[in-house]
Amino acid sequence: MTHILEAVDYLNSVTSDFKPEVGIILGTGLGGFVDNIDVVYSVDYCNIPNMPVSTVEGHAGRLIFGTVGSRRVVAMQGRFHYYEGYTMKQVTFPVRVLAKLGINYLFVSNASGGINTSFCVGDLMVITDHINLLPNPLIGPNNNELGPRFPDMHDCYSKAVRDKATAIANRLNIKLQYGVYVGTTGPTFETQAEYRYFKAIGGDAVGMSTVPETIVARHMGVPVFGMSVITNCGLSDQVGDHEDVQMQGRKAGERMSKLFVELINNLD
Ligand code: HPA
Repeated sequence: MTHILEAVDYLNSVTSDFKPEVGIILGTGLGGFVDNIDVVYSVDYCNIPNMPVSTVEGHAGRLIFGTVGSRRVVAMQGRFHYYEGYTMKQVTFPVRVLAKLGINYLFVSNASGGINTSFCVGDLMVITDHINLLPNPLIGPNNNELGPRFPDMHDCYSKAVRDKATAIANRLNIKLQYGVYVGTTGPTFETQAEYRYFKAIGGDAVGMSTVPETIVARHMGVPVFGMSVITNCGLSDQVGDHEDVQMQGRKAGERMSKLFVELINNLD
């Protein structure tokens, strides 16, 4: 807790108590979303007390404080993955900090592999639920000031926000898929047998992030909205053309950004 509060105090001091309403984790594909933020403060992770230090050189992460339309947001540019060697506490530390800064919603995005055979490369999937195949970030002594020992995971991905997203997507003519995200440790992609296994247990897409951050946000009572860009289809025989995959990813990112902007401005 003291580590979290040190980071929160530092951020409040350098942002003059900016008080963001919405936190956004910019995953693969949503990098371009920053162009929609009127940036007020940008804080490098390396200056924030107790923040994990990035293992990848030249991959400096930062927190971006600013506005999207009428809403104050804080965006994480750069996230920490378990496969990089961070502990689950380190992976989820920034979410603890954002929650203590007072966000009312957490938006998470990622790139994932399609399991559902009706999905196409470049589709956007609203995460309706998840299956956690990573170590649980809440293992260990529970701090009751942060949240309950046994947090409920019903409505893990807020139904109210998902319904708003659907209405906005219809208005903007953006096609959405819906499904269950399977969170794995990575870093290997799935074997064909693993894709079949994930399908059998009810998964629609698989990736290596998002679930830890969502669990910690829910532990602290923050509603979550999650979205995946489907970058490959695991059960398809077709091996994607690399350039095509990248282009689909970019286009999907643009659609996701548009949707996020509208959604953020229509939150209660
Ligand atoms: N598996 C896991 N993570 C991924 C994939 C995948 O197929 N595609 C993008 N991220």
